[in-house]
Amino acid sequence: MGVGKLLISQGDIAVKVDHMAALIASRLDGSSTIMVGLLNGSVVFLSDMMRSLSRHGLCPLVDFMIVSSYKDATGSSGKVDIEQDVRIDLKSRTVLLVDDIVDTGRTLAEVRNHIYAKGAMDVITCALLDKPSRRVENISPDYTGFTIDDVFVVGYGLDAGNKYRCLPYIAVLEE
Ligand code: IMP
Ligand code: MG
Repeated sequence: MGVGKLLISQGDIAVKVDHMAALIASRLDGSSTIMVGLLNGSVVFLSDMMRSLSRHGLCPLVDFMIVSSYKDATGSSGKVDIEQDVRIDLKSRTVLLVDDIVDTGRTLAEVRNHIYAKGAMDVITCALLDKPSRRVENISPDYTGFTIDDVFVVGYGLDAGNKYRCLPYIAVLEE
């Protein structure tokens, strides 16, 4: 298992994240919005996104959840575990839910329901990557960076067995 072909360059990611941030900032109100990032995968995307949002005039509160859906390197367990919940009160807030990639959609669907159950007024979802061909749940992120084919990718926060998160670009995992 190793890093294969480059799929999305560092430059293309930067342009895309800034474009997404401009769209999101024009829609959301900074005083009622909380960004919630799903760790570990969203860490790089979220940190670029929050700085981009602030350049576009939106500086929301930020919190995190630890959610796991993958038991081994690349196989879905089909179950979403919330290992750590948000600590900020979400009642009557708009939540900008940030994840690295939407695959089966189970994580996004489960966490969105969970956040509504905690009293959020609205949940806006965004993901850098979307793999619609693998979808099991009827959900799509409100804001998507890139739609990709059914390939397993690493880098820019995305891992395979916790490796390769640090790569500044997105590459295909070589089996
Ligand atoms: P879902 O619940 O099946 O949509 O899976 C979402 C989670 O699976 C993401 O937050 C990622 O952590 C992980 N995941 C799905 N596809 C990939 C991939 O190609 N590379 C790395 N992680 C992935
Ligand atoms: Mg992951």
